[in-house]
This record gives sequence, structure tokens and C-alpha cells, in this order.
Amino acid sequence: MTDKAGSAHLRDAGVVVTGAGNGIGRALAHRLAQDGARVVVNDLDADACIRVADEIGGIAVPGDAAGDQGVTDLVARSRAALGGVDVWFANAGVETGAAGTEAAWQLSWDVNVMGHVRAARELLPEWLERGTGRFVVTASAAGLLTMLGSPAYSVTKHAAVAHAEWLSATYGEKGVIVQCVCPQGVSTDLLPTDAAGRVIFESGVLTAEEVAADIVEALAHDRFLILPHPEVADYYLRRASDPDRWLRAMRRMQDRIEVAAREEVRVRSSSSGGGRR
Ligand SMILES: NC(=O)c1ccc[n+]([C@@H]2O[C@H](COP(=O)([O-])OP(=O)(O)OC[C@H]3O[C@@H](n4cnc5c(N)ncnc54)[C@H](O)[C@@H]3O)[C@@H](O)[C@H]2O)c1
Repeated sequence: MTDKAGSAHLRDAGVVVTGAGNGIGRALAHRLAQDGARVVVNDLDADACIRVADEIGGIAVPGDAAGDQGVTDLVARSRAALGGVDVWFANAGVETGAAGTEAAWQLSWDVNVMGHVRAARELLPEWLERGTGRFVVTASAAGLLTMLGSPAYSVTKHAAVAHAEWLSATYGEKGVIVQCVCPQGVSTDLLPTDAAGRVIFESGVLTAEEVAADIVEALAHDRFLILPHPEVADYYLRRASDPDRWLRAMRRMQDRIEVAAREEVRVRSSSSGGGRR
């Protein structure tokens, strides 16, 4: 399955990108189409899905890429349109912020984890039979480290990485390549803009197009982790080699977030009349 360049690998390949109506998925769909892939564009947002498919000459399959029935339908319609799925980009994801409600946890679990589990379950029999297939998960650096301010996101992205690792360990010798994209901040609608987001991503964010280019390049080398922000490898190592030290650094960052949030409230209340005479 490996070619000299990721783009050469893609010529005529039948690929599916979930959550491709916006952000990283949209940029990826554009890049894959430019490189000659036949692209199924999926998104829950039907208008965005159709718009992106029109932009790239792809095939729009709007719908849910998380629930059991939604995934079964998406795989069936993709197979019918492409005549077989070569690469599945499990990219759709949700970030529910600080909300610790049952609904936020359930949604995060469904979209960020079970969508991948269900897609793999549908795709594996075909891939194992033909001895080839590629499953590319957009997880997050939060899945290797943590995301302050976002408990459900952190936990479910860890689960997404764990599932991808398990798939790779189990099926990697049977022709199924699994890769896991773990970016830090990317300038999309999902990026938190609250105090946590501003402190965590103060060193800068990548564009969705930059991340899409990194993903396509990584298709050529088959390595499991795709790290658009290379410094994440170092943070991951530090976390593993000295968890207490790493947690102390996280706590210091959490303190900075809380200071920034209090400052934000103070500025907001003084500009909305808190300073009236
Ligand atoms: N933006 C970041 O900073 C960042 C960093 C690391 C990882 N990621 C991950 O990248 C992926 C893409 O996120 P993005 O930043 O492009 O966000 P985005 O919000 O711009 O795009 C996500 C898309 O997924 C779609 N979607 C949500 N639930 C869906 C479902 N059940 N079925 C089909 N589509 C669904 C949304 O409608 C949206 O169009 C996510 O998995 C996200 O967790 C993002």
C-alpha cells in the first residue's frame, strides 16, 4: 500500500471523509480530490456536506457518522458509490467544553469513539478479505496528553487513540494500516475561544490546510502517529517518563487559565456598566 508520496498513493483511491463539511475534514477532502482520489464527503450538516462535495467534484453522503444505523448506512452508500472503500478518514468530532452533563459525555463518546468502532466493524471484513485497507483516525493531542477545560473531550480522545492502537496491533500484519492524527490547535470552529483555549493555544495554531497536507504526506510512510505539531512527541514522552512532573506543569497551566477567566469576567463586567457612577 505504500507509495513514494502520499499523493501518488491516492490516485483513483476510493476514500471517505467523515465530518468533511467544515474544518480539517473539508480541507482534507479538497486535498484528497486534488491528488486524484474519488472522495465521499460526509457530514451531519447536509448543506455543508453538499457544498464541499460540489466544490471538489466529490460524492455527498450527508448523515450521521457516529450512531450504529448512521454508520451502517454511510458505509453501504460509500461502497455503492466507490465500488469499495480504500481509505476511511474517521474525522468527525465534537468538543463539548467544560460541560460535565450526561448529554455532553454521551455525545462525545458516540461521535469521538463509537463512530470509529462502528466504522471499523463494518469495514474490516472487506479489508481482511482483500488484504488491504487504511483507517485514519483524527484523534487529538488531547488523546495523548489532556485538554484542560474539556473533560469529555480528553477522555474520549484517549479512547480514540486506544482503539486505533488496538486496531493496528490486531490487524496491522493482515494488510490493514491504521494511523492516528493528533494535532494541537487548528483554526476551525471547534477550537475553544474561551480563556482555556486562549492560554492553551497561545503559542499558535495551524490552519486546516496545513494539517490536511501533513495527513496526506503521512499516508506514504504508514507510521501510526501523525503529529502536525511535532512538539507533541516531546510532551508525550515527558508525560510517560515523569507523570507527576507533567501533572504539576498541567496544574500551573490550569492556574493561568483560571486567572485569565477571572480577568475576562472583570473586564466584561466593567465594560457592561459595572463601573457606572
Ligand atoms: N480544531 C482543533 O484544534 C482540533 C485539534 C485536534 C483535533 N481535532 C479534531 O479534528 C476533527 C475535525 O475537527 P475540526 O476542528 O475540523 O472541527 P469542525 O467543527 O470545523 O468540523 C467538524 C465537523 O464534524 C461534523 N460532525 C459532527 N458530528 C458529526 C456526526 N455525528 N456525523 C457526521 N459529521 C459530524 C460537524 O458538522 C463539522 O462539520 C475532530 O475529530 C476534532 O476533534 C481538532
